[in-house]
Amino acid sequence: MGSRARSGRGGAAALFVLRKSGLEVMVGIPNELLAIMASSMKAADKWVEKNVSNYLNKGCNVRYVAVGNEPFLSTYNGSFLLTTFPALKNIQSALVKAGLGNQIKVTVPQNADVYDTATGKPSDGDFRTDIHDRILEIVKFLSDTGGVFTVNIYPFISLYIDPNFPAEYAFFDGRSQPVVDGSATYTNMFDANHDTLIWALKKNGYGNLPIVIGEIGWPTDGDMNANAQLAQRFNQGFMTHIATGQGTPMRPGPIDAYLFSLIDEDDKSIQPGNFERHWGIYTYDGIPKYQLNFGVPNSQIKRASGVKYLDKKWCVLKPTVSLDDPKLPDTVSYACARADCTSLGYRTSCGMLDTRSNISYAYNSFYQKNDQDDVACGFSGYATTTGQDPSTGTCRFGIMIEVDSAYSWKPRRVRSNYLLVLLLALVHLCVSSS
Ligand SMILES: *[C@@H]1O[C@H](CO)[C@@H](O)[C@H](O)[C@H]1NC(C)=O
Ligand SMILES: *[C@@H]1O[C@H](CO)[C@@H](O)[C@H](O)[C@H]1NC(C)=O
Ligand SMILES: *[C@@H]1O[C@H](CO)[C@@H](O)[C@H](O)[C@H]1NC(C)=O
Repeated sequence: MGSRARSGRGGAAALFVLRKSGLEVMVGIPNELLAIMASSMKAADKWVEKNVSNYLNKGCNVRYVAVGNEPFLSTYNGSFLLTTFPALKNIQSALVKAGLGNQIKVTVPQNADVYDTATGKPSDGDFRTDIHDRILEIVKFLSDTGGVFTVNIYPFISLYIDPNFPAEYAFFDGRSQPVVDGSATYTNMFDANHDTLIWALKKNGYGNLPIVIGEIGWPTDGDMNANAQLAQRFNQGFMTHIATGQGTPMRPGPIDAYLFSLIDEDDKSIQPGNFERHWGIYTYDGIPKYQLNFGVPNSQIKRASGVKYLDKKWCVLKPTVSLDDPKLPDTVSYACARADCTSLGYRTSCGMLDTRSNISYAYNSFYQKNDQDDVACGFSGYATTTGQDPSTGTCRFGIMIEVDSAYSWKPRRVRSNYLLVLLLALVHLCVSSS
């Protein structure tokens, strides 16, 4: 559930910096373009020319084209059900025409909600009945053309939507009640979920189709189970697990995976939940939230250098304003709707603030998002700027970073996107070569 949809903006800049880096890149076609790719071979040709051939010629190591992003997610109500396969076929034809048929593989990243097991045992896995035939035509095509099945697996979201989900099962420490399935024993959800997919494929005659984990990760804020400790525990557990190279009970061997994500994205939709803007291993300004050992020497996660901040100024509630003022709630709603209040909920990083600081947090978020424009610290005269950092404990009152210095690090302009791709590629590289 809950697509970690990636914005297409910033993609060109991303590919530009990836030139000659040697990092492997997966470029993606947004769901909104599936209909046109499906109905027009010309559009598919043009897309490949502009977004693949063009960057290959500039030295970018494009390896995959992702056609859509979780197009069969159940919350999309089948909106992309009829266009995904025809789009996939047209893109594959376009790649062949461009002479890239052997070099670049196509795939359709799916959410793990496309398969299910009624009993909880992986061996009872199969594809969801409403999409069964549609997904099999894709699977057959991927199998025939040497493509891969890409799946995004999120134990965090299982824990988020199901209060009875056994928390330990989300992690890799073997502390949960095991699920026994024939001769296989599962102590973590990742392995069980992965093998549910293998069984679904096997049952339909495609048990050997290669699988790529397109996204996996853990957020650090916006929910009581989202914090740096748990994110580190999950991501490190996962890295260590796949570094052993032992794979899962149903598919021993190396696992190909992309960590989600490099950096927080403050413009992301929070429709799936308040955690959505907090998947980053880095904060919006390039500070690592925790360390990860990638199993390669000297692979420390370093702080981004050269980040330039705006002035040390914050926007806060004037001490003279009464909390009983009836107009106060509207100013907070205004700020929260346009900026970011996802760190103010129960047991989040700023969840312990008192009401005054809570309001200040909302005001400041809006002020920084508007590049410290004086007009953005008005709020009917209830707000004022201060040079004193209101940050306290785990709660950080941010300062926006400069646009020009931060070609790489300006989240508002969605520059973050290219670094995201960079880390994904980097992690992919480490994981694949280990
Ligand atoms: C290249 O990809 C972007 C993002 O998907 C898209 O907006 C653009 O239309 C594509 N270019 C062509 C020529 O199809
Ligand atoms: C899907 O259908 C449900 C129920 O009919 C509706 O509430 C929801 O808005 C629909 N979502 C989309 C993306 O069409
Ligand atoms: C803090 O702000 C959030 C978002 O506006 C709100 O949901 C929460 O109830 C507030 N908490 C306090 C203690 O004022």
